[in-house]
Amino acid sequence: MTEIASDLLRWYDRHARSLPWRSAPGTNAADPYRVWLSEIMLQQTTVAAVKPYFEKFTALWPDVAALAAADDADVMSAWAGLGYYARARNLLACARVVAAQHEGGFPESEAGLRALPGIGFYTAAAIAAIAFGQRAVVVDGNVERVVSRLFAVETPLPGAKPALYALTNGITPHARSGDFAQAMMDLGATICTPRNPACAICPLRSHCAAFRTGAPAQFPFKAAK
Ligand code: ADE
Repeated sequence: MTEIASDLLRWYDRHARSLPWRSAPGTNAADPYRVWLSEIMLQQTTVAAVKPYFEKFTALWPDVAALAAADDADVMSAWAGLGYYARARNLLACARVVAAQHEGGFPESEAGLRALPGIGFYTAAAIAAIAFGQRAVVVDGNVERVVSRLFAVETPLPGAKPALYALTNGITPHARSGDFAQAMMDLGATICTPRNPACAICPLRSHCAAFRTGAPAQFPFKAAK
């Protein structure tokens, strides 16, 4: 494991956000249904906005079989306010495929997950890592920002995406890759923020090339519009 990964995981063990779809750091007990539901809701939506909807959905439909059996109209009205309604339609379609074709369990591989409605490249990697403990490279916008700073990547986004993916691959550990992914997200949300990053309290400061430039917030570079 790289020192970046071990330093980040040590920080996560103390500072992980307590979120309703997470198991405790270091345990591998995350419920795939809850991980999947949270990741669909978190596409294009903030953690703060998702929390009450996640609680409502899991109270109404505690497992994938219950959601698969729900009325479309009930699910759509429970989703009202979260936006991007195609997500809700795909959510139901996915629950029904999983309940009917996978004996109620989600496939564990990224490829198997990607074959399901509403699950793309990022979401498949996130579920494989967080719910199934598979080594998967999980790159969302937060992770792109953190990695672009760690390595002071000067190629602008979006062109830098393949390089950022490769760099994330290089630091993703085999053990605890789900915790690693969520630690990167937490770091990006709470310390390595878009503006005014809190480098003074960052567990990765000693590894960070952007910190050494003295102007970490200039990363990631963005292509001129
Ligand atoms: N954003 C998307 N997935 C997340 C997760 N599992 N934890 C925190 N933020 C996220």
